[in-house]
Amino acid sequence: MAIASASSVTSSVVKPRNTITVVDNRTGKSIEIEITNNSIPATAFSQLKAPYADGERTENDTPYGLRILDPSFINTAMIQSEITYIDGNKGFLMHRGYPIEQLAEKSSYLETAYLLIYGELPSKSQSDLWTWEIMHHTFVADDLQQMIRQMRYDSHPMSVFISAFAAMSAFAPEANPSLQGNDIYINNKGLMNKQIVRILGKATTVAAMAYRIRINRPFTPPRSDLSYTENLLYMMDHMAEPNSYRPDPRLAKALDILFILHADHEMNCSTAAMVHVGSSLVDPYSCVAAASAALYGPLHGGANEAVIRMLTKIGSVENVPVFLDAVKQKKELLFGFGHRVYRETDPRSKVIREVADMVFEVCGREPLIEVAIALKDAALKDEYFTSRKLFPNVDYWSGLIYKAMGFPLDFFPVLFVVPRVSGYLAHWKQQLESGKNKISRPRQVYVGKSRRDYIPVEARVERTITGQNGLTEIPHYISKRRLTKI
Ligand code: CMC
Repeated sequence: MAIASASSVTSSVVKPRNTITVVDNRTGKSIEIEITNNSIPATAFSQLKAPYADGERTENDTPYGLRILDPSFINTAMIQSEITYIDGNKGFLMHRGYPIEQLAEKSSYLETAYLLIYGELPSKSQSDLWTWEIMHHTFVADDLQQMIRQMRYDSHPMSVFISAFAAMSAFAPEANPSLQGNDIYINNKGLMNKQIVRILGKATTVAAMAYRIRINRPFTPPRSDLSYTENLLYMMDHMAEPNSYRPDPRLAKALDILFILHADHEMNCSTAAMVHVGSSLVDPYSCVAAASAALYGPLHGGANEAVIRMLTKIGSVENVPVFLDAVKQKKELLFGFGHRVYRETDPRSKVIREVADMVFEVCGREPLIEVAIALKDAALKDEYFTSRKLFPNVDYWSGLIYKAMGFPLDFFPVLFVVPRVSGYLAHWKQQLESGKNKISRPRQVYVGKSRRDYIPVEARVERTITGQNGLTEIPHYISKRRLTKI
C-alpha cells in the first residue's frame, strides 16, 4: 500500500523523502502518500472524508471520501506499462527500450510487432515462425466474407473493418471467455498466442476487403509467400493479372516503415479503449473492434484524412495566411498539429517525411505537399502555435503519402489501425498477464438534479419542445406524404 502514514504536518524543516503530504483543510487531517515512479495512487485520496458542509448536496458523497476529477485523462495514468515510452518534451519515442528511429531504419513491421507483444526482438528462428504463423492466419472464414460482402459499396472502410472484427468474435467461440471461462488466457498461453497471430493475420485481409467493397471488386485471397505489407497491397490491387503479380517492393517497404511508426503509442485514445474494454475480459476480437472504433474519430486516427481535406480546402500556398487566421480565431482546426503528450515535433513525423520522398519517387510528387510545407513553416513561426507548443504530429505527413500512393481518403484510418492492432494486442496481453487486472470502472462527479418524486403526466406543466434539440425538429421516418391526417 502506497500510503505511508496519516499524521499532521508539524516540522518546518523538511528532510527530502519520496512522499507527498496532503492536508485536508476541511478537517485538518493530513495523509502522507508514497511516490512511486513519480506517481501516486488516486485511491489514497479516498480516505480523506469530511462531514457535509452546511447546505452541501448529499450527492457529493463527502463523507465517503474525496474523488479525483480528471475529464479526458489529462493527468491520470491508467496503467503501469513496460511497452512504450514517450518523452513529450524532447520528442522521443521508444518501444521496449528501442528508439523509434532505429526500429524504422532497421526493423520490419512484424519484427516490431513481436517486440511490442513479447518484449524482446525475436531470434532468427522465432522471427521465421512468427512470420509464418501470421501469414498462414490470413484467411477469413467464408461465412464472414459473405457478411462483409453485404456492406454497401460506399460504407466508410473503417465501418467495415470494425464490423468485421466484431463479427469475427462469433467465429471464434473457443476464444471467448464468456463461453469458455474467465481464465482461459491465463491458463492457456497457446490459446492467447493463437488469437494474436490470427488477429494480426486477418487485419490485413479485412482491410483489403473493406477496400475491395469500396471499389466494387471481388475479394482477392491472401498470399502467404509475400511480406505483410506486400500481401496487403496484393489483396487490394490484384485484378485480372496472373498470380505472379507483385506490388512494387519500394511501396511495400514504405508501407512497412509507416506500419512500424504506427504500431504503438502508449495510452492513446484507442489503446486506452482496448485496455478498458479488455478489462471486462471480453474476447480479443470484440476488444479490437472497440479500440478501432475509438481510433476512427477525426481527433485520433481520422486526422490524416482530415489533413488532406484541410489542405485541399486551402488549395494553394497564397491561401495559407487566411487559413491560419481562421485557426487562430478558433473557426478552424489545424489538423495534423498538436498532441496531448508531445510538446516538441513528433519524432515519427520526422521519419515519415523521408518516407514521403521515397514514395514520391515511385508515384510522383503529391501536389498538396507545397501547401503542407508552407502551412507548417508559417505555423511554426506563429506565436499562436509556438506558445501552445503545437508541432506537426504523425498524421500531418502520413495522409500526403497515402494520397500520393492513390489510396482513397476514407481508407487512411484503415492504414493506421492495421498496424496499431499490434499495439492493442501488446497491451491486452500485458493487462491479462499482469495479475492485477480489475474491471475499469471510472468514478463520476454527479452534478445533476437532487432526489425528487415522480409527477404523473396529468400533473406536469405543459411545455412545447422547440429549438434545435427539440424532438419535434426530428422528422424520424415520417415522410411528408404520411403527415396528412385521414
Ligand atoms: N489547431 C489549432 N489549435 C489547436 C490545435 C490544432 N490542431 N491543437 C490544439 N490547439 C489549441 C487548443 O485550441 C487550445 O487552445 P486554448 O489554450 O486557446 O484553448 C490549446 O491548443 C491546447 O489544446 P487542447 O485541445 O487542450 O489539446 P489536447 O491535448 O486536448 O488535444 C489534440 C490534442 C491532438 C486532440 C489536438 O491538438 C487536436 O485536435 N489536433 C488536431 C487533430 C490531430 O491532428 N489529431 C491527431 C493527433 S496525433 C495521432 C493520434 O493520436 O491519433
